Amino acid sequence: MTNHPEQWPLRDLVLRTPRLDLRPDDDEGLRELVEEAYLGVHPPAEMPFVHPWTDADPADLGRGMLRHFWSKRVTLSPERWTINFLVRHEGRVIGTQGLEATDFGVAREVVTGSWLGSRHQRRGFGTEMRRAVLQFAFDHLDAVRARSAAFAANIASHRVSERLGYRRDGTETVVRRGTPTVDVRLLLERDDVVRPPWTLVVEGLDGCRGLLGAAESPVRTHRGPGDDRAHTGPQPRSTPRPNVSHCAGSPLW
Ligand SMILES: CC(C)(COP(=O)(O)OP(=O)(O)OC[C@H]1O[C@@H](n2cnc3c(N)ncnc32)[C@H](O)[C@@H]1OP(=O)(O)O)[C@@H](O)C(=O)NCCC(=O)NCCS
Repeated sequence: MTNHPEQWPLRDLVLRTPRLDLRPDDDEGLRELVEEAYLGVHPPAEMPFVHPWTDADPADLGRGMLRHFWSKRVTLSPERWTINFLVRHEGRVIGTQGLEATDFGVAREVVTGSWLGSRHQRRGFGTEMRRAVLQFAFDHLDAVRARSAAFAANIASHRVSERLGYRRDGTETVVRRGTPTVDVRLLLERDDVVRPPWTLVVEGLDGCRGLLGAAESPVRTHRGPGDDRAHTGPQPRSTPRPNVSHCAGSPLW
């Protein structure tokens, strides 16, 4: 044993819900995630992702996914980070739930995106895993708002957002498979969160706070409207803000 600081504290982070464990991606887990992608994420006639990564040649799909997830790890910094949580049910990876932020210490905003293997959909897991990262962001990182986006026709994603308290926040037209398509932005303010009857269990966060530009504060209990005290975390230098991310898992090719 040495006294060196932990190089990758995200290794110890875990979020637990009644049925799911969410941990930042690791290579063994990514192998299982790639398997889910090969088994299918959506009907072929649909495309829920702005970056149509599931249209990739099957020969490239798995490696493209790995490159995407690795790139997010490599570029993680307090000024701009993405945690791609692998979502496990009964010990097996069933999908991924992304959480990202830019200048979190000042903006205190997060963006989410997610997908599940088709065979695991419509069992409430999509709602449960989004709830997990929202509770993590609002109650443990002291975020004040969360954003998401989905194509107008993506009923499942919009239904999850509605259930959790998001409101629509405008639209934009994006090109999907060569066709103009309406993308709907969604916004969730901390005081509007619809809370589940369970409480998220978080382990291993303390060592990660500096990496995420998050305050060294204890777990925050749900506060009432208007209680929005100043954030005391590190003040990262300003970073150009990317567009709101639409969905997680958009590989590099
Ligand atoms: C979006 C997604 C993560 C939701 O996860 P899920 O586990 O299937 O959703 P849930 O089981 O929690 O269902 C949430 C609600 O959506 C509804 N729903 C789910 N799939 C649906 C479908 N295909 N058609 C209509 N409604 C659907 C559920 O009935 C439920 O509604 P309710 O709250 O009224 O009961 C998942 O469907 C998915 O991975 N889809 C493909 C990728 C994708 O679209 N990602 C998001 C891109 S923005």
